[in-house]
Amino acid sequence: MTITNLPEHIAIIMDGNGRWAKKRFLPRNEGHRRGVKALEDIIDYAEEKGIKYLTVYAFSTENWRRPESEVNGLMGLFRRYLDNNIKTAGKKNLRFNVIGDLKSANIPEDIKEKINQLKEITKDKTGICFNMAFNYGGRDEVKRALQKIAQDAKDGKITVEAITEELISGYLDTSHMPDPDLMIRTSGEERTSNFLPWQLAYSEFYFTDCLWPDFTKEEFDKALEVYNTRKRRFGKSE
Ligand code: IPE
Ligand code: IPE
Ligand code: MG
Repeated sequence: MTITNLPEHIAIIMDGNGRWAKKRFLPRNEGHRRGVKALEDIIDYAEEKGIKYLTVYAFSTENWRRPESEVNGLMGLFRRYLDNNIKTAGKKNLRFNVIGDLKSANIPEDIKEKINQLKEITKDKTGICFNMAFNYGGRDEVKRALQKIAQDAKDGKITVEAITEELISGYLDTSHMPDPDLMIRTSGEERTSNFLPWQLAYSEFYFTDCLWPDFTKEEFDKALEVYNTRKRRFGKSE
């Protein structure tokens, strides 16, 4: 199929690592490790396809509720991902960004430093903008935005009348990027789990039973093909 309608921004809920591992009698963290591999391939492929923004749900504000061993395993994978990308950034054209509450005391300090380092060294890159949602929760993001808006109103920097939809978008972690055109969730779950509640208001949703570590280029192509057939109306009659 020729793709005539390519999404500019794709958001992905990478779900199903645990079930992928369970099916193979492997530890959950092995599923996460394979999930990172799948992600690396998808980032390269999305860039090759001409996708401008890719936002992936890597760790939610709710994921701290998992057992300590799993959380530690995930933190180890982030650390390794960041280290590898800091090393290879010079060879790539990827711009790295994080959305989520990075001020949280739960996040290990060295991970915060590595995130800032990778953001800094890739800030002038012109390729795909890769956004990692890390310690991200949509309601938490809205809460943080409202706190900043209220503070700016109190300080006289903005008036109450100046609070428009555009202004609110600008206070969110995703300011300076368009809303996702397509949201993909793997693993068969059909919910958004607190991912981008404001930004997904008019996105197309694509759900697949494929578990995240099995999400290949072919699976990504299937999602693009389905998106290509969708008719977005934005409230209009045609
Ligand atoms: C998604 O896979 C990865 C994270 C939430 C970090 P899961 O770990 O949620 O996998 P399932 O849903 O248990 O299969
Ligand atoms: C959403 O997946 C978060 C990430 C993929 C990082 P979960 O597996 O945590 O979502 P629920 O708990 O099934 O809704
Ligand atoms: Mg899950």
